[in-house]
Amino acid sequence: MIKTKKQRTLAEPFKIKMVEPLQITTPEYRASVLEKAHYNPFLIRSDDVYIDLLTDSGTSAMSDHQWSAMMVGDESYAGAQSWERLEKTVKELTGMPYVLPTHQGRAAERILYGILGGKDKVFISNTHFDTTRANIEFTGSQAFDCISEESLNMHAELPFKGNIDIEQARQVILKYGKDNISAIILTVTNNSAGGQPVSMENATQVRALCDEFGILFVVDGCRIAENSYFIKHREAGYEEKSCRDIACEMLDLADAFVMSAKKDALANMGGLLVMRDKSLAEKCTNLLIISEGFATYGGLTGRDMEAIAVGLHEIFDENYLHYRIKSTEYLGKHLHDKGIPLVRPYGGHAIYIDAKELYPHIPVHQFPGQALVCDLYVQGGIRCVEVGSVMFGKYNEQGELIPAKSELVRLAIPRRVYTQSHIEYVIDVFDDILEERDHAKGLKIVYEPPFLRHFTARFEPMISVPLEQD
Ligand code: F0G
Repeated sequence: MIKTKKQRTLAEPFKIKMVEPLQITTPEYRASVLEKAHYNPFLIRSDDVYIDLLTDSGTSAMSDHQWSAMMVGDESYAGAQSWERLEKTVKELTGMPYVLPTHQGRAAERILYGILGGKDKVFISNTHFDTTRANIEFTGSQAFDCISEESLNMHAELPFKGNIDIEQARQVILKYGKDNISAIILTVTNNSAGGQPVSMENATQVRALCDEFGILFVVDGCRIAENSYFIKHREAGYEEKSCRDIACEMLDLADAFVMSAKKDALANMGGLLVMRDKSLAEKCTNLLIISEGFATYGGLTGRDMEAIAVGLHEIFDENYLHYRIKSTEYLGKHLHDKGIPLVRPYGGHAIYIDAKELYPHIPVHQFPGQALVCDLYVQGGIRCVEVGSVMFGKYNEQGELIPAKSELVRLAIPRRVYTQSHIEYVIDVFDDILEERDHAKGLKIVYEPPFLRHFTARFEPMISVPLEQD
């Protein structure tokens, strides 16, 4: 059968110059590794992982251009040429005059929200990412997520489910008073809500809302290139524009920009804090110097800054972005065709599986998402992360678990790292998952730290799934 153009293989727009060997292990070996890691894949050595889908952060493969730029990294303490190159690139992209380099995204957040926040202050976002929320709440401020019911519906086929709900945001402003609102933060794409994109129309509405009440508009754009691809292909009037121009247009609307360079800057480390306001920039620079480093390197080496500067150009290659979004979609589509329940439409950097629906016999207090994470590791050496009650569940005063809103598992795809056949392999492993699904066992927590428990919690499998009492 001749394949139509649409059915043809999606081949990578790069070739491989350097390889990193992967260990091939057996399910028996992996079962013993998992037991020693207390059923928490964060505690597994990377050597024992075949396909690592834990995160797309800092895990990109750098290009030959990035590596060669690193060789000319200028490691001078002050006024390094590498800094000048990075600053120029960021100014051209954002149109903003004040650029601060940080060691990663959360350092930019700590500095900016540390200055804007404080007791009785309020931040509004489509969805605050964990580190964003943590940095805000650490200052004593409150963080409100404003997202519509429709967008929270995992299966609703809508083009821009990452959008902020403008009406909800307005209500928060009216309730707490405009003078107490520190900023509206638009996270593009919306990582904590399935990697869903935000439309230009929505960003324009945020601008108008900020103008109406005199509020600062911050874009958290660590995946802004991926978001721009979605705008180009889903929003009327953007078909002919380049993804880079779309990103510039969105940043033109904002007052400040925070970015983890570990995502769409294709670097293994780094962050950016960028803004228009001079006096805010002065305050941020003082804090940067105290905590990160001098203003022309922040938390970065000269070679890191070179890699980010080149990465910020490469990311907007239209062929790359097409391949990136389509290969994520490919994984989603094939899992969906097998009957794996997923968040739809598919996000830019990750596929999210609904573990509660896949393992309906495992009650939420036995963590169906963690069970699936463990099964994917044992069956296929695939590492991924639970985004459910292990990560977000809380206890009430009686010590009972209040489950998270959903029990998801995230398969995040590192940029330019895995080939089409690796992705095919992941798809095949799900046949084993489906075959074994009725035998999947829940887990109980036997140790947990007071904060961010998913990183270090220890589990034990339930001996058998409890049957309904007669
Ligand atoms: N904002 C968003 C939307 C993020 O996804 C992340 C990181 C950060 C800020 C913080 O950046 O890690 O450089 O300090 N997300 C990673 C993830 C960790 O796996 O989704 P960072």
